[in-house]
Amino acid sequence: MDEHAYAHVPVMAGRITALLLPALAGPTPGGRPPRRKDAPHGLARPARARHDAVPRRRRIGIDADAAAIEAGHALAERYPGRVTVAHAVYDHIAEIAAAAGHRRVQGVLFDLGVSSPQLDDASRGFSYAQDAPLDMRMDQGAVLTAERVVNTYPVTELARVLSEYGEEKFARRIAELIARERAREPITSTLRLSGIIKDAIPAPARRTGGNPAKRSFQALRIEVNDELGALRRALPAALDLLAPGGRLAALAYHSLEDRLVKRALTARTTDKTQPGLPVRAGELLAGSPSFRLLTRGAERPDDAELAANPRSASARLRAVERLGVAA
Ligand SMILES: C[S@@+](CC[C@H](N)C(=O)[O-])C[C@H]1O[C@@H](n2cnc3c(N)ncnc32)[C@H](O)[C@@H]1O
Repeated sequence: MDEHAYAHVPVMAGRITALLLPALAGPTPGGRPPRRKDAPHGLARPARARHDAVPRRRRIGIDADAAAIEAGHALAERYPGRVTVAHAVYDHIAEIAAAAGHRRVQGVLFDLGVSSPQLDDASRGFSYAQDAPLDMRMDQGAVLTAERVVNTYPVTELARVLSEYGEEKFARRIAELIARERAREPITSTLRLSGIIKDAIPAPARRTGGNPAKRSFQALRIEVNDELGALRRALPAALDLLAPGGRLAALAYHSLEDRLVKRALTARTTDKTQPGLPVRAGELLAGSPSFRLLTRGAERPDDAELAANPRSASARLRAVERLGVAA
């Protein structure tokens, strides 16, 4: 795929570049080229802008989606020897870096969630507004599809997924109606499912909060791709991978993702030392934070970006820097 044909509009790109660039542009241990890791892979204009801003930098892009990886190969061709592309779930971040010869990296960007190409290609089944097979896999080779979840999960399990990952108030009612409908005929299309969800939600509640299927589709997508599990495993691995002075930015698109990011960053930036203990100069006390926060709370896109790209509306950006002196 041509990198230009991969039409994802990047979110908060300028701010992300400003947050990561100090770590990428600085001196590197032994004068080796700085390394930056993208999980998932940034392919569009800002990715190129960050490359051009730090010409010696090498980059590793990770994405579970074969189409994103294909576009990543086009970027690799533009910057020979500087881009490694890995088709994987990003919780393998440490192994992928090690295989590329890196024990430490200077920057990590998590640009989470779905891409515009995934949403816009109806055949991928992510959209509740266009008819398609119920798929929703980011990795087209994975076994679990939304069709399998919807047609095989017991009602209680289905209700848990919709309630936990979609924060859907009517999860039980929706799960029960799905079970009745699938007993008549398996549910195989996005539009049939969104119709069932709509019918399960009481009429007054349907009139608020946009498309009534939105929350359930988000929940199914998270379940199909184990998005929260992968993020829970990937964040500590990525933080451990950062060199002193290295920076990590994470762009989340819903509150469940953002909560995990916040928790992981807070765990590393909170001072757990016992107050009153004597400290010798240069000594790092057990429990002292190993990272500092670069963002105050979660940063949001500004009005200009919201107007230009309404899909950025739910984005929340957080970033940290690893403390200590580069060896
Ligand atoms: C918002 S898009 C990234 C867009 C990219 N930064 C750009 O500018 O083109 C999110 C990407 O994350 C990928 N993704 C989501 N969860 C993933 C996971 N657990 N492991 C690997 N990739 C994942 C999706 O396939 C999608 O391509």
